Amino acid sequence: MRFKDKTVIVTGAAGGIGSAIAGRFAAEGARVVITDVNAEGAEATAAAIPGSRALASDISQPEGCRAIIENVIATEGAIDVLCNNAGINRRGNLLALTPEDWRLSFAINVDAMFHLCQAALPHMIAAGGGAIVNTASQWGLHPAPNHIAYNVTKAAVASFTQNLARDYAPDKIRVNAVCPGEIHTPMLEAGVRRAGRTIADLDRLVPFGRIGKPEEVAALVAFLASDEAAFMCGSLVEITGAQAVA
Ligand SMILES: NC(=O)c1ccc[n+]([C@@H]2O[C@H](COP(=O)([O-])OP(=O)(O)OC[C@H]3O[C@@H](n4cnc5c(N)ncnc54)[C@H](O)[C@@H]3O)[C@@H](O)[C@H]2O)c1
Repeated sequence: MRFKDKTVIVTGAAGGIGSAIAGRFAAEGARVVITDVNAEGAEATAAAIPGSRALASDISQPEGCRAIIENVIATEGAIDVLCNNAGINRRGNLLALTPEDWRLSFAINVDAMFHLCQAALPHMIAAGGGAIVNTASQWGLHPAPNHIAYNVTKAAVASFTQNLARDYAPDKIRVNAVCPGEIHTPMLEAGVRRAGRTIADLDRLVPFGRIGKPEEVAALVAFLASDEAAFMCGSLVEITGAQAVA
């Protein structure tokens, strides 16, 4: 019960890694706000997780980001943990992508973190501290081919994390990022289908012998947000089954 009576926001929490993160925090006593552009999915996920509620919002819009923070402050009165997890993966090399692919990738994967953190930080600082956990990717550190928009946005998430940590560590705001490898989610399944591959093909690429589970990333996110990680600030933690070093 590391998060008893704490308020936790998870973006992109209708499914995939986000819903596992939400479930983990709720199981440890938190009040969890499950936010996603997919209103129906967010409602269904919240219905399955006691101690959580759904809040639909499109974080590709600055006002969508600010609305989340305003809603949570008005309702729960505080933000102890902000998990910037939502993301999209527009596949392709430079010539395959449209300017819209590039723009939307940055809007959701990077700009939303700027707007959400800018709205949340004053409340966290006034409360004496807080934790932010961003979802980057191993591909932000070691680019995979033909995913230039995704890889560049995730590299930006890594740098954003380090910069925010450096600037607000004196205020006891701990900012860290997880950098997952291949994790079995709807996003990954869409990519596998598009590439004409199978999950078993991906399992073989991972030295550990299988791809990861959303719950395994959720456990790391919860650790980074907890008091057990009290001196972790500005860290980019890879969780890849050794694929990042293969
Ligand atoms: N699955 C992987 O292998 C993997 C690996 C590394 C990093 N990640 C990252 O983990 C995070 C979660 O990915 P996932 O695999 O669970 O993907 P997913 O597609 O299953 O979930 C992403 C969620 O974000 C939501 N979302 C998309 N656009 C949004 C918007 N404009 N506003 C609000 N919500 C929006 C979606 O509705 C969805 O519920 C992403 O940031 C992703 O880049 C995933």
